[in-house]
Amino acid sequence: MSRAGVLVTGGSRGIGRAIVGELVAAGYPCVFTWVQDQAAAEATLAAVRERHPGATVESLQLDVRDPAAVDAVVDEATERLGTIGGLVNNAAIARNNAAVMMSNEEWDDVLRTDLFGPFYVARALLMHFLSHRDGRIVNISSVAAGGCSGGVNYAAAKAGLEGMTRTLAREYGGRGVRCNAVSVGYVPTDLTAASLSARLESYWTEYCPLRRVATGEEVARVVRFLISDDSSFVNGEVLSVAGGLTYSP
Ligand SMILES: NC(=O)c1ccc[n+]([C@@H]2O[C@H](COP(=O)([O-])OP(=O)(O)OC[C@H]3O[C@@H](n4cnc5c(N)ncnc54)[C@H](OP(=O)(O)O)[C@@H]3O)[C@@H](O)[C@H]2O)c1
Repeated sequence: MSRAGVLVTGGSRGIGRAIVGELVAAGYPCVFTWVQDQAAAEATLAAVRERHPGATVESLQLDVRDPAAVDAVVDEATERLGTIGGLVNNAAIARNNAAVMMSNEEWDDVLRTDLFGPFYVARALLMHFLSHRDGRIVNISSVAAGGCSGGVNYAAAKAGLEGMTRTLAREYGGRGVRCNAVSVGYVPTDLTAASLSARLESYWTEYCPLRRVATGEEVARVVRFLISDDSSFVNGEVLSVAGGLTYSP
């Protein structure tokens, strides 16, 4: 079966890398982006190509904070994939600090990367989706959207992303575009290593009903479901992939 391509932002490392692997394994041609770690992007590309010889998978550099760059990369990805039917807004950063200590730069950088960026990419691809009357957007959110001590910038960005998810679902569902989000609990990655990882990891293993943290692959399988026709009547949902623990300390 031939499938329309998918653009995955921040596919070079962590959960994004697992999402690219899962989508390519399911037969979706993919373009994934990275911003500064070219070596990680090349390693991901090589690993996925080795595992799936002949599959279409490519990488492009993109800073999602730059709307002009987003438009250019969406054009380039469309050219490489022929047609794009899916977007996974995965790229994000965390820069934790207590609210009273948080610098303008820490606040702005996280909001620009984790909220403005996903909007720029979704907006650029929506024009394309609407012209085909078909598109699936999956935004990667976090249980931290409900509040997260030490991450007021991250919580605000992810809560905004969930509002954006429900809004796009309403605005464009009638024109063939579905938009959903995945609310991730805890997956050990570079992002969590940079933000209070030891404390958070023990919190998850103690309080999560499944008594463990997740793998990127466990998130990726749900993303694949939301991109696929198997979720054809799922729209505007924030699906929790958090082992039953939806509260961040
Ligand atoms: N890990 C968790 O426990 C957890 C929990 C809840 C939600 N999430 C969400 O899951 C998603 C993936 O997180 P992760 O833990 O896998 O993160 P990660 O390992 O730190 O990977 C982040 C990815 O985003 C890219 N990126 C960062 N800034 C960017 C920018 N300005 N423009 C474009 N790309 C950029 C990075 O590219 P480079 O490699 O080039 O730097 C990398 O590919 C994020 O949305 C995160 O908020 C994660």
